[in-house]
Amino acid sequence: MSIQRPKGTQDILPGTVEKWQYLEDTIRTVCREYGYEEIRTPMFEATELFQRGVGETTDIVNKEMYTFLDKGERSITLRPELTAAVCRAYAENKLYAWPQPVKLYYIGPMFRYERPQAGRFRQFHQFGIEVLGADKPVVDAEVISLVWTLYQRLGLTGLEVHINSVGCPTCRAEHKDKLLEFLKPHSHELCRDCQDRLERNPMRILDCKNPSCQAFTAGAPTTLDMLCPECKSHFEELQELLKAAGVVYKVDPRLVRGLDYYRKTAFEVLVEEIGAQSAICGGGRYDGLVAEIGGPPTPGIGFAMGMERALAAIEVQNKMPEFEKAGYAMIVALGQQAQRHGFAWVSALRKAGIPASIDLLGRSLKAQLKAADREGVKYALILGEEELNKGMAILRDLRVGEQEEVALNQVVSVLKDKFGEGVNA
Ligand code: HAM
Repeated sequence: MSIQRPKGTQDILPGTVEKWQYLEDTIRTVCREYGYEEIRTPMFEATELFQRGVGETTDIVNKEMYTFLDKGERSITLRPELTAAVCRAYAENKLYAWPQPVKLYYIGPMFRYERPQAGRFRQFHQFGIEVLGADKPVVDAEVISLVWTLYQRLGLTGLEVHINSVGCPTCRAEHKDKLLEFLKPHSHELCRDCQDRLERNPMRILDCKNPSCQAFTAGAPTTLDMLCPECKSHFEELQELLKAAGVVYKVDPRLVRGLDYYRKTAFEVLVEEIGAQSAICGGGRYDGLVAEIGGPPTPGIGFAMGMERALAAIEVQNKMPEFEKAGYAMIVALGQQAQRHGFAWVSALRKAGIPASIDLLGRSLKAQLKAADREGVKYALILGEEELNKGMAILRDLRVGEQEEVALNQVVSVLKDKFGEGVNA
């Protein structure tokens, strides 16, 4: 059998790649407007980074990591997310000595061994931002407003921004006790995963998707019920700021997120139309993470957006723009001599900034014109022996079917004029 791509991965082919580029360009524009700079970190890291950073009790670390020993017997993991890696880079490269806060963004592939389904892949792509070195609620509001702006720029509607506060270690300890008190007498009624969570991380039971667990925990104490004064005022101020920025949000006390590093603000953006995997974006504050992985105590907040899911939302809401093919002119050369001339002309056109191509298969006039038409090329420049002898070429407008003779030494300037008009039109 022929070799196929690994399960849960995708080939992004021409025709689709333009959609990715459009999304990436829009992201880069918005990030520039907000003053975020790009960071690129390795595709793989020491396994310990994610064990310590993301947390030993999480599904990501327990079940989903691509971990292997390299030839030097080091345990290596393909990055399942980038927050821990960005914090590592911040500490390792002493970015804490830069003017604070440091505002970073990234776009790239992540790897999780999950059960593939619509909207869930083993290699998927995230756009994320991380702000390090600032702890005020205004930072949380800026981060959420950046997501909001991006979705508006993409033309998306009907998005639900859910926010919560998961508290700090102080209020969390109190919440854990109260939650265990509530859950313990009925622990046998929980699903098997939640029984496991009861021992390791009971808070996560609150966002179990199993309907019977949801019903059972409906009256359970939430972190919001138990916030300490500092966490409470942080959350209240965040909401005031979001209102001021016109961000429509909903407080969801059961939103706890699946990664261990969150403190205070946690949020997700959901788009129901894209199916069961409706979380298009998730994030929150992680004030203890940089210190956890060996750096100086540094507050941090960020989010990551699933690019496949964002593209699905753009498609389902019919917001994807039409893309023009890059080809503008095609040299249709007939005969060996004309081909040599054509080869020089195609270089001259490209040098003048006009996207141009030349037949590479030695096809007939008819076949070359057909190919040009199929590729959506606007102009064919026909070069035959007869035209060459006259120092002329035929320039055919393939959209309207009209043609004119152009002196060979005028070809570049004529096409450049037409291309200029096309660009500005
Ligand atoms: P996360 O919730 O694990 O958070 O992932 C963020 C987003 O990535 C999800 O909302 C979803 O859109 C997308 N995503 C996750 N797993 C998959 C998958 N298997 N296939 C397709 N898309 C997926 C984080 O990764 C945190 N690092 C976010 C963060 C940044 N928190 C603070 N800063």
